Amino acid sequence: MSTLVSSPGRFRRSRLRRQGRLRDLVAETRLDPSMLVLPVFVDANVSAPSEIASLPGHARLPVRELPRIAEKASSAGIGGLLLFGLPGEKDERGENAADPLGPVPMALRALRDVAGPDLALIADVCLCEYTTHGHCGAVTPEGTIDNDATLPLLAAAARIYAEAGADLVAPSDMMDGRVAAIRHELDRADLTETAILAYSAKFASSFYGPFRDAADCAPQFGDRAAYQMDARNGREALAEIAADLEEGADMFMVKPAGPYLDVIAAARARFDAPLAAYQVSGEYAALHAASARGWIDLRRAALESLTGIARAGADMIVTYFALDAAAWMRER
Ligand code: PBG
Repeated sequence: MSTLVSSPGRFRRSRLRRQGRLRDLVAETRLDPSMLVLPVFVDANVSAPSEIASLPGHARLPVRELPRIAEKASSAGIGGLLLFGLPGEKDERGENAADPLGPVPMALRALRDVAGPDLALIADVCLCEYTTHGHCGAVTPEGTIDNDATLPLLAAAARIYAEAGADLVAPSDMMDGRVAAIRHELDRADLTETAILAYSAKFASSFYGPFRDAADCAPQFGDRAAYQMDARNGREALAEIAADLEEGADMFMVKPAGPYLDVIAAARARFDAPLAAYQVSGEYAALHAASARGWIDLRRAALESLTGIARAGADMIVTYFALDAAAWMRER
């Protein structure tokens, strides 16, 4: 008995690690391009792609570039596009988020024909790109965010995107009650087939920096800590998710992904709804910056971080690596 237990041969985990084929056979987590979603910035103010310095390989695109990027995403086997808009004009209340001729509805209409059934079209719903102050909601004269006054503005924007052909609308504003408000508005407009992907557990994060450059939506005063979640709270994230599912969200999201893998894992264990994770701009930029200095191997680091997010329990990953990662997955 004691000789058997102490025999080194019995517990050699390395037997199944000895070659790539064996490792692939027993892998618990598998990445596939179809689980990736590519964020795209549609800019009403540019007539040619305008590079985003802090997001290497990404650019703000005019509407007419959208079919090209959709073709690329489709042939890479990517699951979907997540659209963000930069409007021609901003105002106090972000009214242009619901402009049917704004960048996102125009892009959706341009994409509807080329995207086909293989590419899900997801429209981000938020006001921060559309407000002069850069906050995600309407602001009171005292300078606080007016949660309830924001809800109809978000619902109107979601309806316009749904009418323009979005398969999913994805509210990222973190106002309380917005999922119910959006579902109600969609149903009222007979848009019962449009799904809601709620950014349920969205943390107030320093990792959004490059995105705010890209989308020109940095708050002009204060920060987003009064409406986005506190990084210290994991149980509260589960309560946020439960509330959004109760309000009618079809899927939910945890964001950022890398620093919040515990939240992804806990949410996976608790909820059966599809779980999306957003590997945000700062996570992408950090890996790029380190690799530009020769400190890490970009491809291996990117795939490892995506694997970690999937292993934690994400069904779908929004990532700026989507096109590259899809190609890398195919190569190996
Ligand atoms: C808008 C929004 C943000 C991101 C997605 N939607 C920025 C923010 O909340 O400040 C961040 C995405 C990223 O960093 O890649 N509300």
